[in-house]
Amino acid sequence: MLTTEENEVLCRVGPGTPMGKVLRRYWTPAFQAGDLPEPDCPPIRVTVLGEDFAAFRDSSGRLGFLDELCCHRGASLTLGRVEEGGIRCLYHGWKYAVDGTILETPNLATSTFRERVKHGAYPVREAGGLGWVYLGPPGTEPPFPAFSWTDAAADELVVSEMIMDCNWMQVQEGSIDSSHVAILHLDTLATMGAGPRNVGSFEFSGEPWDLDMPVPGRRGGAGRPGGPGQPGGWPSDDNAPRIEVENTPFGFHYAAIRDVTGEPGKRFVRVTAFAMPYTAFIGGVASGAVIVVPRDDYTCSSIGVFKVPKGAGGAAASRRAGGADPAVWGPEPENRRVRLPRQDRAAMAAGKSFAGFRGGNRIQDAAVQMSEGPMYDRAKEHLVPADLAIIRMRRLFADSVRRVEAGQAPLGLGEGCDFARIGAASQIIDAGQPWQDLVPGNQGVREPVRQA
Ligand code: FES
Ligand SMILES: [Fe+2]
Repeated sequence: MLTTEENEVLCRVGPGTPMGKVLRRYWTPAFQAGDLPEPDCPPIRVTVLGEDFAAFRDSSGRLGFLDELCCHRGASLTLGRVEEGGIRCLYHGWKYAVDGTILETPNLATSTFRERVKHGAYPVREAGGLGWVYLGPPGTEPPFPAFSWTDAAADELVVSEMIMDCNWMQVQEGSIDSSHVAILHLDTLATMGAGPRNVGSFEFSGEPWDLDMPVPGRRGGAGRPGGPGQPGGWPSDDNAPRIEVENTPFGFHYAAIRDVTGEPGKRFVRVTAFAMPYTAFIGGVASGAVIVVPRDDYTCSSIGVFKVPKGAGGAAASRRAGGADPAVWGPEPENRRVRLPRQDRAAMAAGKSFAGFRGGNRIQDAAVQMSEGPMYDRAKEHLVPADLAIIRMRRLFADSVRRVEAGQAPLGLGEGCDFARIGAASQIIDAGQPWQDLVPGNQGVREPVRQA
């Protein structure tokens, strides 16, 4: 439980807020690179960490990430013309380069002003199908998190983004929350063939109900984020996993340890790694990650990025999942905004469905996470041991807030860390085997210590 004041600190991300200052010290995946598909294509508006920006790709293919409003008199640069090495404001024709240099001021004959002033521009780079920006103080950029999927070619990646109407922390907590998986996602488990299961006194028949659901390992389901395990089942009836957490150079990782039905000498272990501050690597999901980024205090993007074999239609899948038309000027592509289907109460009452939401894990997750409201007040919650990973994440953020306030760097910048070796796992092991053996690249610290 947090106090209402601590909750405010954790959730608010705008410029000048404690968490806003922390998040601006990491590379932030702010938009899909595919929304700027070619040199001189139409610009896009990006809302991230409570601020609006104009992103564009210049004639030589370089990305620019600028303050949205023209520094002459504030027209939106997202209305502008992208041509000949820059973006030109429609209103009076001022033209900007990707680094914020003012190239032309047609309604001002002399060059004195443009030589003195620069428009707000931020470091931006393209990796893993995303545009990553650095919004912190100049010169403080940390090493870029080169994850195992960030150097993949466009046709090896599936990127799917859901814009959700709730504070980002609700979604982030869901990403690292193991104990809901075999409860909320029972319909998914049933579709994957897990058979009958109990939730408390409720006996769920386990008959597949949502046959159109995308499922990992099944046609159409490649790389779907949030999958609960290997196709074919979930080898445990244990709904109260023991959670063991360790800090790592990039944040933390944890194991959710469950008994295995009928095999007392075995344990079903799911290891999740959390790379501060946005990215979760989830056990049982194909190579990739789930990234949650705040757009503002009440809206976030949940982005799944997954590596697929070359020729498996990665880029095409991205277009289907995102489907944005970058030529449309507006706050954001509406077809990325989650629209929940009607909850099927009849199927629930008949014992055919547990949650009643068609569409798979991400829809089920979105339903409960958005149901917490625009910004849940954690002063009202009651945490249990199954929530240990969530507690650790909040602690790393709270410690980072204190550190940044004291003029230090936040935690998890990964100095000296090989980001490409960060891993997750989902498998059965002998009861005596350390789960850490499954993920040596995470460099977990065995005795969790509070980092100073
Ligand atoms: S407002 Fe952009 S050039 Fe005047
Ligand atoms: Fe989930």
